[in-house]
Amino acid sequence: MPRDSGSDQPQKREHWASKAGFIMAAAGSAVGLGNVWKFPYMAGENGGGAFVMVYLPIVFTIGISILLAELIIGRAAQKDPVGSFRVLRGRAWPLVGFLGILAGFLILSFYSVVAGWTVAFAAKMATGMLNGQGADPAAVFGSFISSPMQPLLYACGFMVVAVVVVLGGIRRGIERANLVLMPLLFVILVALVGRSLTLPGAMEGFTFFVTPDFSKVTGATFTAALGQAFFSLSVGLGAMITYGSYLDHKQNIGRSASSVVGLDTVAALLAGLVLFPAVFAFGVDPGAGPGLAFVTLPSVFAQMPAGQIFGTLFFVLLSIAALTSAVSLMEPVVAYFMDQHGFGRTQIVIATGVAAFVLGIPSSLSMGIWSDATLFGMGFLDLIAFVTSSIMLPVGGLLIALFVGWVMGSRAIAELKGNGDTPPALARAWLFILRFVAPAAIAWILIKELIS
Ligand code: PFF
Repeated sequence: MPRDSGSDQPQKREHWASKAGFIMAAAGSAVGLGNVWKFPYMAGENGGGAFVMVYLPIVFTIGISILLAELIIGRAAQKDPVGSFRVLRGRAWPLVGFLGILAGFLILSFYSVVAGWTVAFAAKMATGMLNGQGADPAAVFGSFISSPMQPLLYACGFMVVAVVVVLGGIRRGIERANLVLMPLLFVILVALVGRSLTLPGAMEGFTFFVTPDFSKVTGATFTAALGQAFFSLSVGLGAMITYGSYLDHKQNIGRSASSVVGLDTVAALLAGLVLFPAVFAFGVDPGAGPGLAFVTLPSVFAQMPAGQIFGTLFFVLLSIAALTSAVSLMEPVVAYFMDQHGFGRTQIVIATGVAAFVLGIPSSLSMGIWSDATLFGMGFLDLIAFVTSSIMLPVGGLLIALFVGWVMGSRAIAELKGNGDTPPALARAWLFILRFVAPAAIAWILIKELIS
């Protein structure tokens, strides 16, 4: 354990070494499986451009406001999510932090299972198992995720790497990894977009993705887009409170939040520009759901010149995106036990990794031998994914908006303006969204979801 990471000395809080380091880490948290795997398949299922037209306004009003609110809470309090609410207000508010830490831990458990699939597929692509003569990606995917041991081995390997990064602490672990991995991720993404858009017949997919067909927009589109916005921006559970708590007061936090949201959105749109032109160019169905990246896309790579190389790059991209997000799911739990219970980083990082892996086991098995064990018609993985992103994150986001909007109020504005150059009109709009727009929209969508 390097001494200057400061990580085993809870009395002296570590801070990001640079502004770029913080932005890359926060963008690394936001850009993940949610952008490259989930966003394209949700768009594919919800009318392509129609979904994008609903998603973007939500991200740039509610999403960005709550992201900024989390960063403000963390930076003001300099503590983990529970400690932050305790410092700023106390009473029942720290419960919001608990809810968030629990949500983060639950997400980490299934996230690492899906991340394991992406690592496995990178290996299968590289070794030609997915695009060789007579390879059938649907069969490969189906038999892989339903086998009991293999996916768990990959999930375990993935978790070990995440643990190693978080063990390094903020500067030497999380910041350094993101400063290398995020630029690499964007380079791969742009290369893949280039390949996809220059395929003969790519235009049709491009059109599908950018032309809204409003007849496809229903109430369910809004629910899906809101849940996706929260998940994609990593808000509602305190990951951004935690990252914000490693900021000092020198930075213009509004501009940083905009950069993070911008990078996250660009990554999602670029992922769409990889998937749809390729999928349409080869005449396959864009509405394949979760199998879009794992089944539809490999079948496209199999028919494409140099498909093995591009396919491998695609799954390496997914693995990198997943790693930098998993790290940010672990850090709030780690920060909580370090700040509130005085644990050393090493102990708690290892314990969190092991516990999340163990809880991931039923998620992984729910794709195979335990697929009959369902609750509300969902297997374990689907159930945890639904409860976290469709209920816990929106509820967490709602409470965070109310906290910063009403409890912190003018203090939040003062924190935001701390370094001078935030236009007052923007600051007022932000507070208005936190006080009224975000709570009303989230409550409306949650209620609709629960009664439907
Ligand atoms: N934002 C990540 C993604 O889009 O895949 C998932 C995520 C990471 C959600 C961290 C929440 C979080 F705190």
